[in-house]
Amino acid sequence: MKPTILALAAFIGFAPVAIADNTPVYLDKNKPLEERVEDALSRMTTAEKIDIIHAQSKFSSRGVPRLGIPDVWTTDGPHGIRPEVKWDEWDQAGWTNDSCVAFPALTALAATWNPEMSALYGKSIGEEAAYRNKDILLGPGVNIYRTPVNGRNFEYMGEDPYLAGRMVVPYIKGVQANGVAVCLKHFALNNNEVNRHTTNAVIDDRTLYEIYLPAFKAGVQEGGAWTIMGAYNLYKDQHLCHNQYMLNDILKGEWGFDGAVVSDWGGCHDTDQAIHNGLDLEFGSWTDGLKAGRKNAYDAYYLAGPYLDQIKNGKVGTKELDDKARRVLRTIFRTSLSKDRVRGSMCSEAHYDAARRIGDEGIVLLKNDGKVLPMNFDKPGKKMLVVGENAVKMMTVGGGSSSLKVQREISPLDGLKAALNGVADVEWVRGYVGDVTGEYNGVTTGQDLSESRSKDELIAEAVAKAKDADYVVFVGGLNKSAHQDCEDSDRAGLELPYAQDEVIAALAKANRNLIVVNISGNAVAMPWVKEVPAIVQGWFLGSEAGNSLADVLTGKVNPSGKLPMTFPTSLDNVGAHALNAYPGVKRADSDIVDLEYKEGILVGYRWHEAKKAKPLFAFGHGLSYTDFTYGKASADKKEYSGSDIITVTVPVTNSGDRAGAEIVQLYIGDPKSSVMRPVKELKGFQKVFLQPGETVDVNFMIDKSALSFFDADAHAWKAEPGEFVVSVGPASDNIKSTVKFKLK
Ligand code: GLC
Repeated sequence: MKPTILALAAFIGFAPVAIADNTPVYLDKNKPLEERVEDALSRMTTAEKIDIIHAQSKFSSRGVPRLGIPDVWTTDGPHGIRPEVKWDEWDQAGWTNDSCVAFPALTALAATWNPEMSALYGKSIGEEAAYRNKDILLGPGVNIYRTPVNGRNFEYMGEDPYLAGRMVVPYIKGVQANGVAVCLKHFALNNNEVNRHTTNAVIDDRTLYEIYLPAFKAGVQEGGAWTIMGAYNLYKDQHLCHNQYMLNDILKGEWGFDGAVVSDWGGCHDTDQAIHNGLDLEFGSWTDGLKAGRKNAYDAYYLAGPYLDQIKNGKVGTKELDDKARRVLRTIFRTSLSKDRVRGSMCSEAHYDAARRIGDEGIVLLKNDGKVLPMNFDKPGKKMLVVGENAVKMMTVGGGSSSLKVQREISPLDGLKAALNGVADVEWVRGYVGDVTGEYNGVTTGQDLSESRSKDELIAEAVAKAKDADYVVFVGGLNKSAHQDCEDSDRAGLELPYAQDEVIAALAKANRNLIVVNISGNAVAMPWVKEVPAIVQGWFLGSEAGNSLADVLTGKVNPSGKLPMTFPTSLDNVGAHALNAYPGVKRADSDIVDLEYKEGILVGYRWHEAKKAKPLFAFGHGLSYTDFTYGKASADKKEYSGSDIITVTVPVTNSGDRAGAEIVQLYIGDPKSSVMRPVKELKGFQKVFLQPGETVDVNFMIDKSALSFFDADAHAWKAEPGEFVVSVGPASDNIKSTVKFKLK
């Protein structure tokens, strides 16, 4: 081709010759990550490296404007994208386009026992984060449910490390596929809210590695979490936001974490420790993550001026700084400057549909005597009475940093009215008065829950109405107020607040078709459990709460959720409380509270089974509107070498009259071992959807890791030769079949 035509062709884009591409390596989204990181680092000054490792505002840290590297924006939280706050305040910025979808709380996600729901959740919330130009989503949380009174359990995934680990991985992958980083939290041992800034966890290695680390390890090594949040508390007398043992030795050393460690807001307390003990990105100093901090203190942050001064006066080199800067740059090139970053979407019908599906699958049918549920309105003129403040109270506002400003929240009453419109007469009465406030961080619910009548008047009204209703649905439980399901405080006990037990007992006498729906992220005591025929664990389900609840109560959806935590009958059956190992002992000479994990690995069902204590409702418990029958479990080997896979198979049949899903659980016990081991531990689960009459062979592939305990002396996982017992069933307290094999 003639040169002129060639030039013309090149100009209009049919360039057979490569046009000189002078995009610098660090900005070239097709270049390998590490090349981009090193190129950018080589161009940065020391001051610029300091700039990018600490906050510049409440929720952002500085990029490198000179190089076209953008600021990093973070956002709460695990259930939805927090509304914008002012540059350096917790107060609302007053945007009118930052309302979001509230997805179900992570306890509800865990209760689905369905990794596909986690993937859907991560994708959806990641799209909302991307749309709001957020680079780091401050979640998910996987702190283990050590005590039912922990205020933040609703943000986490229950008591079992295996379940939490399986369920957190798809969430992380789903979020990060959008070019948004998760920030796995709160690493680690932040298992209660009281004294959360001063609690020093005293815990043996075996318990740490078997119970409290696995979900984080899965999130880092299988989920590929790009950032992780240091917790507020201490471990071995060092704050977790700069902790040699947890961050350098375990996270970055043993696990090979290559991302950035982000401090919790106000979790950084010391420059030297922050430099040397693994912190990469400092946020929120001089605030407790909830209240105001020192105004515009950003240049005074521990990793800001004080750090730069140490470098300038030769007290410290730049090796640590380069490592921190690399990790922040890696995060930037994985997010805002990644070719995978999506435009995202906010409040789409797809996201509402996702929230509803997760809620539908997360609701747990705890009891259904006489098959009161699903409600039957075939005959006209039916009446349903709904009782309780939680039938109407907004639950997406409050609870701490996971609080949201939603575009919509369908209350249980709204959902039931919509579902039964034209089918039955639905009436609501207050029943009890709980928390009439409705504001968090400047976001208000707009509800007026004020009430002048007395407790007895409210109960009398409810009982009178209940007498001639076909169904009574009591919607109560906890809420997002302090000392309930809320950050920065714990509950005083298991009991339901606001004299709800009295209301429930009275209603049980007035109507035998009473259904109690418990809205909470935690186990509660149920002294009326024998008098109430139907009980549903409703969780905090967010924007689609009422629709999901109505789906299940009307039978449109067959419930399939199972408990991700034990509901104990009393705190006496919870190791942390039985051994007086909560909330810890304050030191005489400082504000540090030593909290010894005396119960060790015996958390939740592990404790109940070791002590032969019967729970109110067991870990893994959840009923269906259909029935499932289990055949005999079998293993493909009687003797197992430990080097390959052993397959356990169990046939499961839907022997009922409607389609449904069963979560088949597999537990493994090591009856004779050199160390104390739990009776059995969850090592597999599968959710199978079956038509009536359908049978499926459920196969579990087991490897040696499923048989192992952590040998602290050897600092290694160990499986001892001998007999192992595999137990399979629909709940930890409902084993249908066992099979034994010998590890050679
Ligand atoms: C809070 C929480 C943390 C949250 C952060 C920012 O105190 O502990 O989970 O992401 O501060 O709000």
